[in-house]
Amino acid sequence: MKQDIAIYGAGGLGREFALLISQINRLTEEWNFIGFFDDNISPNTKVDGTPVLGNLQTSQEWKNPLNLVLAIADPQIRFDLREKLANNKLRFPTLIHPQSNAGDVVQNRFGEGVIITAGAILTTGITVGDFVIINLATTIGHDAHIGSFSSLMPGCSISGNVQIGERSQVGTGARILQNISIGAQSVIGAGAVVTKSFSAKSKLIGIPATNRAE
Ligand SMILES: CC(C)(COP(=O)(O)OP(=O)(O)OC[C@H]1O[C@@H](n2cnc3c(N)ncnc32)[C@H](O)[C@@H]1OP(=O)(O)O)[C@@H](O)C(=O)NCCC(=O)NCCS
Repeated sequence: MKQDIAIYGAGGLGREFALLISQINRLTEEWNFIGFFDDNISPNTKVDGTPVLGNLQTSQEWKNPLNLVLAIADPQIRFDLREKLANNKLRFPTLIHPQSNAGDVVQNRFGEGVIITAGAILTTGITVGDFVIINLATTIGHDAHIGSFSSLMPGCSISGNVQIGERSQVGTGARILQNISIGAQSVIGAGAVVTKSFSAKSKLIGIPATNRAE
C-alpha cells in the first residue's frame, strides 16, 4: 500500500524533491504525495498542482502517520527545523533517485532523511549521516563520511577518505581532494578546490581553497 508523504518547503528545492518522488513512483508506486508544508505560503495554495497543507504548526499537529521530506538547503535551518518536529506521527524516509547510484548497499551506511537526487554516484565504505542532501551529479568516493544535515550542492566531487563534519555546505562544483577532513558547520564555496584539512566553521573559497571565516 502507498504511504503518505509530504515535503517541508515549497520552493525550488521542494519542487525538485516532488519530481524525485514522482520519478520513484514511476518504478515502484511507493508514495502518495499529499502536499507541502511551508511557513510563507498560504494553506490550500497549489504549488505545481499540489496543495500547501499548512505551516510548522500544522506539521507538528499532524494526526496520521506521515513521511516527511525536509526541502531546506541550508544545513543549520534544516537542523533547527528537525528539532522542532517533535511529532511521533512523522517519519523521515531516505529517498534515492532511480537514476543515481548509491553504491555498495552492504558497505554504505545511510541515516534517516537522506535525499540522493538524480545522477549522484557513490562507491563503497561510505557513511552518510541523517538528513544529508546529496544533490544532482555529485560524486562521493570510497570510505568518505558526510556528517548529518550537510548539503552537497550539484556537481561536487568528494574524494576517497574525505570526512565532512555535520551541518556543512559544499557549494556547487566544489572538489575536495582525498584524505581531507573538514570540520563541522563549514561552508565550501562554489567551485572551490580543497587541498588540505580545515577546522570547524571554516569558509573555504577559491583554488586552492583558503579559509575566509572571520
Ligand atoms: C562561498 C559563499 C558561501 C560566500 O558567500 P558570502 O560570504 O555571502 O560571500 P559574498 O557573496 O559576500 O562574496 C565575498 C567575496 O567572495 C567572492 N566569492 C564568493 N563566492 C565565491 C566563490 N564560490 N568562489 C570565488 N569567489 C567567491 C565574491 O566575489 C566576493 O569577492 P569581492 O569581495 O572581491 O567582491 C558563496 O558565494 C557560495 O559559493 N555559495 C555556494 C552557492 C551554491 O553552491 N549554490 C548552489 C545552489 S543549487
